[in-house]
Amino acid sequence: MKLTIIGTGYVGLVTGTCFAEVGHHVVCVDNDAAKVKILQAGGLPIYEPGLEDLVRKNVAADRLSFTNSTAEGVEKSDVIFIAVPTPPQPDGSVDMSFIERVAREIAGAMTSYKIVVDKSTVPVKTGDQVAETIKRYCKTKVEFDVVSNPEFLREGFAVDDLMKPDRIVIGVRSQRPVAAMRQVYEPFNAPIIVTDINSAELIKHASNSFLALKISYINAIAVLCEAAGANVSEVAAGMGMDERIGRRFLNAGIGFGGSCFPKDLSAFIKIAEQIGYDFRLLKEVQRINAEQMDRFVKKITETLWVLKGKTIGVLGLAFKQNTDDVRSSPAIELCQRLLKEGATLRVHDPKAMDKAKAILPGVTYVDDMNAVADGCDALVVATEWDEFKKLDTDRARKALTHPIMFDGRNLFDAAEMEAAGWIYKSIGR
Ligand code: UDX
Repeated sequence: MKLTIIGTGYVGLVTGTCFAEVGHHVVCVDNDAAKVKILQAGGLPIYEPGLEDLVRKNVAADRLSFTNSTAEGVEKSDVIFIAVPTPPQPDGSVDMSFIERVAREIAGAMTSYKIVVDKSTVPVKTGDQVAETIKRYCKTKVEFDVVSNPEFLREGFAVDDLMKPDRIVIGVRSQRPVAAMRQVYEPFNAPIIVTDINSAELIKHASNSFLALKISYINAIAVLCEAAGANVSEVAAGMGMDERIGRRFLNAGIGFGGSCFPKDLSAFIKIAEQIGYDFRLLKEVQRINAEQMDRFVKKITETLWVLKGKTIGVLGLAFKQNTDDVRSSPAIELCQRLLKEGATLRVHDPKAMDKAKAILPGVTYVDDMNAVADGCDALVVATEWDEFKKLDTDRARKALTHPIMFDGRNLFDAAEMEAAGWIYKSIGR
């Protein structure tokens, strides 16, 4: 099939590339000329495991191309996906201006029947607005359908999530676009659920908020575990063996971050408010998440007493493992809080140091994770990178002035660390 993706951020670029990988012909459109130039030259504006090879392979096979021109994208394909940002506004509501602009641009370029698919995360009822906008700005009387097809990919695992999705959600206002949408997704062999547009839009916010709720739930249990002398990892393991609960997203830590959960939660609370429901449960999820960071900072200050004049090594800057993304990263927030307390920081991240440099000045970036501890008063784990488990802990222990580790992601075995002579403090254990 011929498909166009408008917006080459995480969602758009990975989606377009995976569509090409299964045999579709894909045009990716972005209004950022510099970004398109990088992509046309075979580069990638983001880090995502496995993506670079797939982009190169599909460009070479002539199934994937990049352009600045929305009109070209609209002309070349029958199915047009919108994957532009929906950033938060100061009051938590969603800035819909990118979606609105793209809807107008598509309308202005349409000369034959098109299926316009919204992939961006949007408030319920956006489909109606997009349809209205296209109708209003379409120069000639052209037929079209609007579809909601939310994306559930996780950064760092995006290619895998796209190639092997748990489910495909297709929200429609009529049956006309369903066959084409099924054809788009047929190569992925995933269960497809066809709903009305409003339900499809709600599925996205409801899913992300539920996952955030699951994390805040286990973080609250971690507080109880610390007070009661229990171990949250064991509690999570025991809970997770119940298939109705599941073990995933029950990792206690310094809280969730990233470009999705915090923003989607605020948006969902606002959307609920606008349609007359006070979603207090989700406000509590936010509160627990904020408190989790406060508790961790308190744990550090209580142990080290005064941070002024102390040097702390921080492992991890990305908002989670396998990504270079530092947007709303709990690790960055932690660094900023420690700096504010007067600490000097030596930091390392396997992928996110370049991006961190732009928002976290005044710290020493260390290339080798094993050298971070050199001359520090304590070591902090802030992101759940797997490679941190391979840290040379003996070397680190000797390099520190005192062998103190604050593990904000529960990466190490508490008993082993203590047996090796560490003063080891983690979350809920
Ligand atoms: C999320 C959703 O998982 C995805 O389906 C959606 O489309 C976009 O938002 P993403 O933001 O990429 O994906 O990351 P995710 O893996 O969900 O992690 C989000 C945050 O939660 C990270 O800060 C991570 O460290 C934290 N987290 C996750 C925990 O603290 N504990 C867990 O058990 C899982």
